[in-house]
Amino acid sequence: FSFNQSSLLIHLFLCMFCSSPECKGDSVTQTEREVVAAAGETRILGCTFETAYTTPTLFWYKQEENSFPKYMLKRYSKTVENSPEFSKDRFDADLNTEAKEKSFNLTISDLRPSDSAVYYCALQPTVTGNTRTLYKNLQYFT
Ligand SMILES: *[C@@H]1O[C@H](CO)[C@@H](O)[C@H](O)[C@H]1NC(C)=O
Repeated sequence: FSFNQSSLLIHLFLCMFCSSPECKGDSVTQTEREVVAAAGETRILGCTFETAYTTPTLFWYKQEENSFPKYMLKRYSKTVENSPEFSKDRFDADLNTEAKEKSFNLTISDLRPSDSAVYYCALQPTVTGNTRTLYKNLQYFT
């Protein structure tokens, strides 16, 4: 991971966030492995997913070198939530569950060198009536 004054490099890796039997068949695919951009530009990081759940919750996390993944934002049904550190002005994602190919692409605008990082797209199936499993899933991610 590196950048010089005029360009920055964003690394992306596939992340599959599903370890319980309920998630069988669920998957998350990030379409880019590595994105290079110049400061000030806008980039879209593609994330497509499959799930049997009709109302999954999707997340984006950012991991800087030598650090843990930081929660950026989540979308669930019509719910839009961004961490205060990641304002919606610069970091936005639309949850698209209607199309044949479901997607949760992240748009980062006005790129800065500090955006150089690994970005993870994550899927959490919505567990109704069994929050214990949900809790277990969340713990996996901590
Ligand atoms: C998300 O990104 C993927 C891969 O770049 C693309 O195929 C898809 O059309 C995008 N989805 C939306 C809703 O823009």
